[in-house]
Amino acid sequence: MIVFAVETSCDETSVCIIRENKKILSHVTYSQKDHIKFGGVIPELASRAHLQILQRISKKAILESGINNEDIDVVTATCGPGLIGCLLVGSTFAKSFSIGLNKPFVPINHLEGHLLSTTYNNNVTYPFISFLLTGGHTQIYLVKSINNYELLGETCDDAIGEAFDKIAKLLDLPYPGGPEIEKIAKNGDEKKFILPAPLSNKKDLNFSFSGIKTSISLIVKKNNKINSEFKSDMSASFQYTVTKILESKLRTVMNFLDNKKISVSNIALVGGVAANKYINSRIKKIVENFNCSLVSPPDFMLSDNAAMIGWACLQKNSTKVKSNLLFKANPRLSILGDNK
Ligand code: KG4
Ligand code: ZN
Repeated sequence: MIVFAVETSCDETSVCIIRENKKILSHVTYSQKDHIKFGGVIPELASRAHLQILQRISKKAILESGINNEDIDVVTATCGPGLIGCLLVGSTFAKSFSIGLNKPFVPINHLEGHLLSTTYNNNVTYPFISFLLTGGHTQIYLVKSINNYELLGETCDDAIGEAFDKIAKLLDLPYPGGPEIEKIAKNGDEKKFILPAPLSNKKDLNFSFSGIKTSISLIVKKNNKINSEFKSDMSASFQYTVTKILESKLRTVMNFLDNKKISVSNIALVGGVAANKYINSRIKKIVENFNCSLVSPPDFMLSDNAAMIGWACLQKNSTKVKSNLLFKANPRLSILGDNK
């Protein structure tokens, strides 16, 4: 089976052609640059950019794959959650392409794409725990099997990637902020600023990141020397605090599983923030203390990409492909089967 996959839920325009044996025949991703000067994604600019680029990169992907249009068996696209204008561009394009080819269209949930991305390169055993850490979401799932997910906790306010981006903006660092903060934190003192770690001692699995942002914003306002030393120290202190929160939630998850007599051997970190090596290495130590192993998708499946959408489509449709052309893009699409 050859799947043609489209991802346009936010500011990445991505197309992937993937075979059922996991072989990626081509993968073209365009990261929109227009948002950099605004320090965040502007939805209207993002959907217009998808519209301009999608057809071009689709042709490029088909050319690079060496296949013909007729060789495509299934067309799939992210149908939510995400920015509605962006979702509509990608899903409408993919639906039209599937009609033209007379091949089935399969809608995929973006979060499911992230959650299943880690099964691409790891032999995971179900159930496993997944920390979904992106610019739009911060959630902890018990992944029981494909199509069966239990949400254990999530952020009450900002997403973790959003926090990285907003702190970067306060420090006058470029967008997206996550990679920049990780880079300059290497030269900083992580104990320089004592920042709040909201909800980290609470025994539930929810997060809150907006208080850290307010606290940093106040320190930045009071300080008249925002030099590179200050930026590095603040980045290191922020990254340290955020990791401490993740570590504490990981311990709470393990405790929760123990009480419920659920045994897991894999903990996954997925989504753009999982690219952070500092977070990864600190979490890995705790995971290993619990005799589990930490799993992550390959680097090209961390930030938004169509390969994870094609891979999720293959796994969900390994026996029978169900076409669903009437599926409507939904900015709040859930993976818990409770979509209204
Ligand atoms: O998964 P993703 O590409 O998009 C969403 O689904 O939201 O995640 C993007 C987020 C951005 O907020 C970006 O700053 C963050 O991932 N990010 C990082 C790193 N690389 C990307 N955050 C921390 N450290 C990184 N190295
Ligand atoms: Zn994402």
